[in-house]
Amino acid sequence: MLVRHALILAVLLLPTRAVALRTRPPNIVFIVADDYGHRDIGYHGAEFATPTLDSLAAGGVKLENYYVQPICSPSRSQLMTGRYQIHTGLQHSIIWPSQPYGLPLQYPTLANLLKDQGYSTHAIGKWHLGLYKEEYTPLYRGFDTFYGYWTGGEDYYTYRTCDRVHYDQAIAEPPSADGKFCGLDLRDMDQPVTDKNGTYSTLLYTEKAVQLIQSAATSEKPFFLYLAYQAVHDPLEAPDSYIKPYNHIQDQKRRIYAGMVSALDEGVKNVTDALEQNELWDNTVLIFTTDNGGEVHSGGNNWPLRGAKHTLWEGGVKGVGFVTSPLLSEGQKGKVSTDMMHVSDWFPTVADIVGAKVNSSLALDGFSQWNMIRDGKASERKEILHNIDILFPQKGKKLFNDTFDTRVRASIRVGDYKLLCGDPGDGTWWPVPSIDQAELTSVSAAERATLRESRPRGEPAAKNLWLFNIRDDPSERYDLSASEPEVVRRLLDRISHYNSTALPPQFPPSDPACDPKLHGGFWGPWR
Ligand SMILES: *[C@@H]1O[C@H](CO)[C@@H](O)[C@H](O)[C@H]1NC(C)=O
Ligand SMILES: *[C@@H]1O[C@H](CO)[C@@H](O)[C@H](O)[C@H]1NC(C)=O
Ligand SMILES: *[C@@H]1O[C@H](CO)[C@@H](O)[C@H](O)[C@H]1NC(C)=O
Ligand SMILES: *[C@@H]1O[C@H](CO)[C@@H](O)[C@H](O)[C@H]1NC(C)=O
Ligand SMILES: *[C@@H]1O[C@H](CO)[C@@H](O)[C@H](O)[C@H]1NC(C)=O
Repeated sequence: MLVRHALILAVLLLPTRAVALRTRPPNIVFIVADDYGHRDIGYHGAEFATPTLDSLAAGGVKLENYYVQPICSPSRSQLMTGRYQIHTGLQHSIIWPSQPYGLPLQYPTLANLLKDQGYSTHAIGKWHLGLYKEEYTPLYRGFDTFYGYWTGGEDYYTYRTCDRVHYDQAIAEPPSADGKFCGLDLRDMDQPVTDKNGTYSTLLYTEKAVQLIQSAATSEKPFFLYLAYQAVHDPLEAPDSYIKPYNHIQDQKRRIYAGMVSALDEGVKNVTDALEQNELWDNTVLIFTTDNGGEVHSGGNNWPLRGAKHTLWEGGVKGVGFVTSPLLSEGQKGKVSTDMMHVSDWFPTVADIVGAKVNSSLALDGFSQWNMIRDGKASERKEILHNIDILFPQKGKKLFNDTFDTRVRASIRVGDYKLLCGDPGDGTWWPVPSIDQAELTSVSAAERATLRESRPRGEPAAKNLWLFNIRDDPSERYDLSASEPEVVRRLLDRISHYNSTALPPQFPPSDPACDPKLHGGFWGPWR
């Protein structure tokens, strides 16, 4: 009798549980790697192994026409709000630890959106969207919990970072005091953490993510986990055990970087294992992205793309990214998408995934890409404003005098065409150390001469306008600006249009009151 009851109960319970799982909105696990180069993943030809990332991507949709911003805060601000930098005032540089500003408070973040939908919301790792007042920190921006750091980079073991004074002479007087500010930056919720000195951050953040997944398994609510690893930003640090398999890599920076990537890959494995072990994987959408191109001076690489982190060349803005989930339609699993997508698309895309309506008064720059990712429909995005930075003007000649000033750093993609103007940053093609030399020598002498064209090093640049067809020429070798002036004009007019909608750039001078010495040795709110 008892057995029969138990059986009936089991039969009754099983389908209910399955239905409950299916109708519950999916969990969102959003993993951001820092400064992770386009070349630095197995499926793009990395000379080190990323088995977890490769297999996750192979079972999902690889985003191969996907763009991010060339540096940290701007990319993260767009990811969090669905707005271009010109529409938040964050178009210049990053938010340095000593500067009194942050992502403006009037823009709801992805965490706000998901919290409104009944999600529990959790951030682990890097924030980098403001810390000078507590209102700018994660617990005030939609996250229920936070474990990580508020600044942009630090030591992987000691959690210590320094900053110097920043200001822009075009809009501000130099700060009253000069100096160097140093302090610790690791928080549990909003409280300083002091007992992790010596623990490598990739291990720490992975452990926190696994714990969070374990507790989410027993919760009624769906969850949003924003796991923004410190890896693989500089400084170049990794436990020896991760570097050892790459002792054959001659270049020391590249060798350590390989170890950092290996630890990251293992961290993602532990996270996905935890999702599976806790029976959450079937109802989870996992998004993986870099925040910008690889930093070639710190081990990263973007070959065969031109340029690197900090620049508007493809090496700075073409991102590694993929989405994987059992919830994708069968035909999409294993697909490589060449549809245009941008980091500002995540906000409306995730809204779509969870069935949230985005208030149209937000006037987002992003497009939902969920139909493209889940079902293979065409992307609605036809252009990407890479940026306009009026605080980055240049000497030299103004071309096409009646439209956008080509001396200003700006770039736009419209269809297959990409226009760059001003000083887009170092346009070198950086080969993988000790590997792609043969390929590099196949670049003709004339092409190699253009390697230097965007490197004025204080001199007025010889050039401030380039046009490429990115589909035909993904490595930006053949400048079409002279041969296709009508396209140049059309794209400059688009930039001009965007410029007319821009907010003034924020870039306040550093505030000496930030000094961690005045705040218990920690970076944190000082106003
Ligand atoms: C962290 O550990 C290092 C190495 O043992 C030590 O030099 C440093 O003073 C420690 N930092 C703190 C804040 O305790
Ligand atoms: C992954 O989990 C294993 C087993 O618990 C652990 O030894 C390893 O340090 C973890 N790796 C990372 C990167 O957290
Ligand atoms: C959309 O936002 C506007 C402006 O903030 C607000 O007045 C309106 O109530 C919002 N609509 C909905 C449906 O939330
Ligand atoms: C743009 O204006 C400058 C200064 O007025 C002039 O010297 C130059 O020839 C003009 N260039 C073009 C392409 O019209
Ligand atoms: C961009 O817009 C700003 C603010 O409206 C204006 O001052 C500036 O002249 C414009 N720049 C260009 C190059 O059109």
